[in-house]
Amino acid sequence: MTMQPASTEIASRIAAIVQELKDLEGPLLPILHGIQEEFGHVPHDVLPVIADGLNLSRAEVHGVVTFYHDFRAKPAGRHVLKLCQAEACQSMGSDAVAAKIKQLLGIGFHETTRDGSVTLEPVYCLGLCACSPSAMLDGEVIGRLDDEKIEEIVAEVRS
Ligand code: FES
Repeated sequence: MTMQPASTEIASRIAAIVQELKDLEGPLLPILHGIQEEFGHVPHDVLPVIADGLNLSRAEVHGVVTFYHDFRAKPAGRHVLKLCQAEACQSMGSDAVAAKIKQLLGIGFHETTRDGSVTLEPVYCLGLCACSPSAMLDGEVIGRLDDEKIEEIVAEVRS
């Protein structure tokens, strides 16, 4: 596999993370979380490094990375906005909230605006069901989303 110098550096750091955690029981998820914590995403071109380190097939590692929506293939924007799409929020209009925010930002879920200001992601329950529909902006929960709060959020991520 041919890699650019930057990728080679990332690959060697990832190999170190694999080495550090591979003896855990069920090491793949902790390794993926460790990589995402350090790089903000799990670059797909280094999945073979993980597969080789754990004696897994590349398809197995790829399957796990794509199954869990938490793992990003690309770096996130400066802000990360997560919109709850679970049942309680659905019953309180989260679909309409998501549609409005997608329209205002011009992106869909798992996308980042062109200027790199915000990444939009779905999330499945933030533990704030009593205040649905809910969202999380850069780790802070926001409940009872209405048009006014949506405008505020969009203005904040764009500033
Ligand atoms: S369902 Fe949205 S916060 Fe619980």
